Amino acid sequence: MCGIIGYIGEKDGLPILLEGLKRLEYRGYDSAGIATINHHGRIDVVRCRGKLKSLEERLVSMPLTGTVGIGHTRWATHGKPSDENAHPHRSGPFVVVHNGIVENFAVLRDRLTDEGFRFDSETDTEVIVKLLESERRKGKSYREAVLDTLRQLRGSYAVVFLNEEEPETLVAARKESPLILGLGEDGTYVASDVPAILSHTRRVVFLDDEDVVFIDRSGFRVEDLHGHVKEVHAKTIDWNPVMAEKAGYKHFMLKEIYEQPRAIVDTFRSVLDLSAFEVFFPEAHLDRELLSKIDRVFLVACGTSFHAALVGKYMLEKLCRVPVEVDLASEFRYRDPILDERCLLLVISQSGETADTRAALVEGVQKGAHCRAIVNVLGSSLARMAQGVIYTHAGPEIGVASTKAFTTQLVALFLLSIYWATKIGTISSESRREALQHLLELPRKMDELLNDGGVIQHWAKRYVHVTDFLYLARGILFPIALEGALKLKEISYIHAEGYAAGEMKHGPIALIDENMPVVVLLRKGELYEKMISNVQEVLARDGQILALVEGAKDPKIGPLELQLEIPETCEWLAPVLFVVPLQLLAYHIAVMRGTDVDQPRNLAKSVTVE
Ligand code: F6R
Repeated sequence: MCGIIGYIGEKDGLPILLEGLKRLEYRGYDSAGIATINHHGRIDVVRCRGKLKSLEERLVSMPLTGTVGIGHTRWATHGKPSDENAHPHRSGPFVVVHNGIVENFAVLRDRLTDEGFRFDSETDTEVIVKLLESERRKGKSYREAVLDTLRQLRGSYAVVFLNEEEPETLVAARKESPLILGLGEDGTYVASDVPAILSHTRRVVFLDDEDVVFIDRSGFRVEDLHGHVKEVHAKTIDWNPVMAEKAGYKHFMLKEIYEQPRAIVDTFRSVLDLSAFEVFFPEAHLDRELLSKIDRVFLVACGTSFHAALVGKYMLEKLCRVPVEVDLASEFRYRDPILDERCLLLVISQSGETADTRAALVEGVQKGAHCRAIVNVLGSSLARMAQGVIYTHAGPEIGVASTKAFTTQLVALFLLSIYWATKIGTISSESRREALQHLLELPRKMDELLNDGGVIQHWAKRYVHVTDFLYLARGILFPIALEGALKLKEISYIHAEGYAAGEMKHGPIALIDENMPVVVLLRKGELYEKMISNVQEVLARDGQILALVEGAKDPKIGPLELQLEIPETCEWLAPVLFVVPLQLLAYHIAVMRGTDVDQPRNLAKSVTVE
């Protein structure tokens, strides 16, 4: 996820672009850049690694002039954060800013290299602008070259181009990445999101997938990818700037919960070959020879990422038949773990900076284990320290309570298990196909659950004043009970505990009375009847059951209004769906209690102290 902006109008472009980027910085902040057309019709570019502040400092000594320009704030997906990888990228008379992932960039780069193009960055974006120059060199008009370029891109993009040959034109396009057009009194704007332009105009056109917009000083024209002109309508929006930054959501956490279907697609799309239903992880450096030698896996993480690791244990053990130990990073090295070259240590972290997890990785390296990381932040410490990386593509997570980073970690662990099982032959191609088919259906099912949010709000209202909550589950859903309890604790400050349902009779059952809400997670399958027995034990003591039930509701579980149906999926992916209502329950209760949802007391997003 990155933020992009473009402007053409009567005013000086630089302050407009900078202000817009500040409002988009929540979308990415590892590097930034701006390009403008100067008074001689040439393009000037200033870009650098780091937050926008670094760019502003650089602009003091290299000020940009002009009334046409584009800007970018980056969240790295291909290529670490560096000056070279920062946007805008240039080729001949063209520059581009891009938000998205070009899936076929390797094929395109090879082809362009054969044509004689040289690449200066590690990004997928650079192929877009080189491809544009290549198409233009074939004698096509700028418009034709843009359309031909875009038609060759697979994956997602929102792009804005500048061209020295037509310095009075701005061209922008989108496919599966957001882009809006802003119509102001003194100019026309394009941006990833409304807040970037809200102080200049409230008249906005929300562009559709595969729209291409050609803008000059007299107006704009929208075409589809085949050059057919489209009619579009502007809307007047009434958001204030703070609402707009959160895309209309009250909190970043809620926005991030709703972003999950998209984040999941971004996480699997770059590693899944749908023609062969195969998974590939080039940056993980896990080949067949290595995987067949591994006889023990250690999954190590903190907090929510630790819960993902617990789910990962079920997946890896069942699908790959390899023994897995799961450790809290803060405990790992103090127990002097037995590690050698037949062990794989896999650390899991959203930020890639958590001090305890880093220390665990150092321990693994020192003891000769093969060390890999699942991280969300490209170029983070763990990504650099590990001998191979699997990236989640959740985009920046601003809310302190982790949501979309967690579900993308679950998806990454699922993909890793399928990949591993394929390499060592513990899964048939038919089962693999079936499992991946479930994955492809997951974003739609998640959307269904998110649209059902009203039930959860009703539950939240009913239980907002209780002092304790219990969460019970079995099997692969047990870690989700832990995660549900953690979410509630950290943002609502209500005491909550997650338990393996079978453990209830060994202690927590003493807590149950008419004041204790008990959230139970039930999948249809071999553990269902056992869960029903646990539910009966709670009901017999007047405890109040709130049930998430896969498939149809069941009168044996208690009142139907306290049951929510979870769409059916395979065992491995059920955790991804079950956690969504628990995130929403914690969120709504916290909002009703008036806590600071995005920055709960005493917590920090990235815990860099041990
Ligand atoms: C809880 C939460 C934390 C983090 C933990 C690890 O909602 O966000 O428990 O999961 O601090 O952080 P990372 O994954 O960045 O290592």
